[in-house]
Amino acid sequence: MSAAAARARPRIALLATGGTIAGAAASSTAGGYQAGVVGAGALLAAVPELAAVADVRPEQLFAIDSKNMTDARMLQLARRAAELLAQDDVDGLVVTHGTDTMEESAYLLHLLLKSGKPVVFTGAMRPGTAISADGPANLYQAVGVAASPAAAGQGVLVVMNGSIWSARDVAKQDAAALQTFGSVYGPLGWVVEGRPRFYRAVSRPHTLQSVFSLEGLGELPPVGIVSTYAGIGPAAYEALAAAGARGIVHAAFGGGTVPDELLPTLRRLRAQGVHIVRASRTGAGPLLRDANADDTAEGWLVADDQSPLKARLLLALGLARTADAAALQAMFDGY
Ligand code: SIN
Repeated sequence: MSAAAARARPRIALLATGGTIAGAAASSTAGGYQAGVVGAGALLAAVPELAAVADVRPEQLFAIDSKNMTDARMLQLARRAAELLAQDDVDGLVVTHGTDTMEESAYLLHLLLKSGKPVVFTGAMRPGTAISADGPANLYQAVGVAASPAAAGQGVLVVMNGSIWSARDVAKQDAAALQTFGSVYGPLGWVVEGRPRFYRAVSRPHTLQSVFSLEGLGELPPVGIVSTYAGIGPAAYEALAAAGARGIVHAAFGGGTVPDELLPTLRRLRAQGVHIVRASRTGAGPLLRDANADDTAEGWLVADDQSPLKARLLLALGLARTADAAALQAMFDGY
């Protein structure tokens, strides 16, 4: 490569956090493996084709299985991402992350980062030691998207298996398939010959338009989720409140209903100041305020179309700004 061509390459920061993309197994056919053991430099070295795409600068932030992601680590990731994006010599950012909690970290950064530069999360469903490992191709495609001006201003993206998803509505939907990520709204686009082709954009605010920011944000206020099932009782709600939760996402049956047996508990918790958000455990479709529950009378919130996982993060960011129920509902209606 000529010196001029090398200089013209986009400069992409690669922030590695672990996951299966950094996983290794005892053999190429073993089902079990350890996530998060291969370093950022080795991930990059496995894809020499990237040298022609971008000047990629690796950095190891965590080396974890993403089952061990926490609110504190997500904020640490957001802060380091913000620092890198603020640098003049960084044109875009790729985050390698375990797929299990990728949609949560990606969504938090989608709401918090104040940058229009491309930010792309990627990972893998098979460790790098596997026959037909998917990590190298995913990393190649993620860097190709992060290096493209077309990805600027799109919010945080997840690129896996040739598809480009918005962090707002992407969800892990399969425990094993390479095409594990999906969205009820479909992908934003595809990666074709290493470059993004976008076909739609999300209309809800993110990054530069979001009211949320890292400035002045200490810890995330504690918010938990309780998923409903036939015959559920109040114990999990009471335990979360006793542990200090300031909000509880009620991952309700389809349309957001609340079993009669839970009503006294949820009313008492709300009276104690705990915010209750109704979301659908189906993970899709809007919930209507004051339909299937008397939200206005109860002082409860509805999550619109957000999954319980995303509703938890949105409520936590909201509670970091206000405890006013109307203001919190406006966030769910707007984001
Ligand atoms: C993890 O989330 O760290 C393990 C699973 C994966 O990356 O696919």
